[in-house]
Amino acid sequence: MASLLQPVTIGDKLPLRNRVVMGSMTRNRCIDNNKPGPAQVKHYSDRARHGVGLIINEGTFVDWTGCDWMHSPVMIDESHADAWRKVTDAVHEEGGKIFFQAWHAGRIQHDQMPIMLEKDRPVLAPSRIKAEGGKYRDIPGCPGHTNNIQAIKDPRDVIETYRHSVMLAKKAGFDGVELLAQGGYLPQQFLNSRANKRTDVYGGSVENRCRFTLELVDALSSVFGSPEAICVKIDPTDIYNDSVVTFDEMKETYTYLIKALVARKVGIINITRRGADTSAGKAQRPEGYPLPAGYDPVLDFGPLVKYPGSPTLLMANYDYTVEEADTLVSEGKLDLISFARAFICNPDVISRIKHGIPFAHNDRGSVVHYGPYRTPDENYNDWPAAVIEA
Ligand SMILES: Cc1cc2nc3c(=O)[nH]c(=O)nc-3n(C[C@H](O)[C@H](O)[C@H](O)COP(=O)(O)O)c2cc1C
Repeated sequence: MASLLQPVTIGDKLPLRNRVVMGSMTRNRCIDNNKPGPAQVKHYSDRARHGVGLIINEGTFVDWTGCDWMHSPVMIDESHADAWRKVTDAVHEEGGKIFFQAWHAGRIQHDQMPIMLEKDRPVLAPSRIKAEGGKYRDIPGCPGHTNNIQAIKDPRDVIETYRHSVMLAKKAGFDGVELLAQGGYLPQQFLNSRANKRTDVYGGSVENRCRFTLELVDALSSVFGSPEAICVKIDPTDIYNDSVVTFDEMKETYTYLIKALVARKVGIINITRRGADTSAGKAQRPEGYPLPAGYDPVLDFGPLVKYPGSPTLLMANYDYTVEEADTLVSEGKLDLISFARAFICNPDVISRIKHGIPFAHNDRGSVVHYGPYRTPDENYNDWPAAVIEA
């Protein structure tokens, strides 16, 4: 796997020791007031010690939120930055690099979650349009997404919320930031004409619907003093959290967005292929939103990012095997691969790739992802590394 294990530099500033990235994973274990503790220090630094090129931390909310994951981290004040500093220091001591994933759920929050009531926060979205579906295990009756939404008055206020959070992340020692702009969360709500019915400069045309994400990227770049420290995670074919759009809208929106991100010289664009039928589960797309057979957003949009002289690296994720990723990197179609689930059960992803040892798989069931657990270390820090024969 010579290609995947070759070093690469983001922009001309941030060298990575290989092209394998640990994808962002919510694990719902920040039980100390939404802050990481010793379990997270061990989890991330173990993976850095085993040589991963870059870690993206679990989605971290830039504002108080009532979502389905009560023990997700937030980055709102200095106490959160201090807690994350222990994680970033430990990762750096192991020679690793770590980006902060900035997350705002928008209409995928729920006004009845205890934390929303306690903090007196509204559910914000581009427009007052309820998302279809949704489940909130911790609210009696397990309701779907809420109708009680406030349309954001001035999107620049929310951009300021992100900027403040990412400033704290920089203080906490993160090397960069991944903006979560998929999954039906706030930036993707602005991109999507079904969720965004605004009549101001943030709604309507493709250019207007992309404006929020692009202004966010500008704000986050200014915090790090360079766009190279910014990664944007997008999923053009997404279906999660009522994010689906027609093929024509998808093509138009993401062609414009990706070109504008590359023109801004962001360090990485991370494309997810969830929702396309290339993904192993053969996505169940909602009726009325078909894709051409075999459509792959990474191969379709990839050339907009990856061309001679491009300032931006192309990363991809969703159900890749090591072999497929290595081939794509060798063929010059990808720069970086992000594996997520593999890192749950394999702290030693890199040495397994190096020695041709297959990844261990989750044989403990779905509780592994988000719990319940007796201690945060359970199903989190108890996966063994493979024994390497001398
Ligand atoms: C338990 C779990 C939690 C996840 N949490 C996040 C998250 O917080 N932010 C995010 O962008 N993606 C999240 N994802 C998606 C992964 O980052 C990744 O895009 C997806 O799992 C596909 O990669 P894989 O096939 O290598 O697992 C999560 C995935 C899993 C399995």
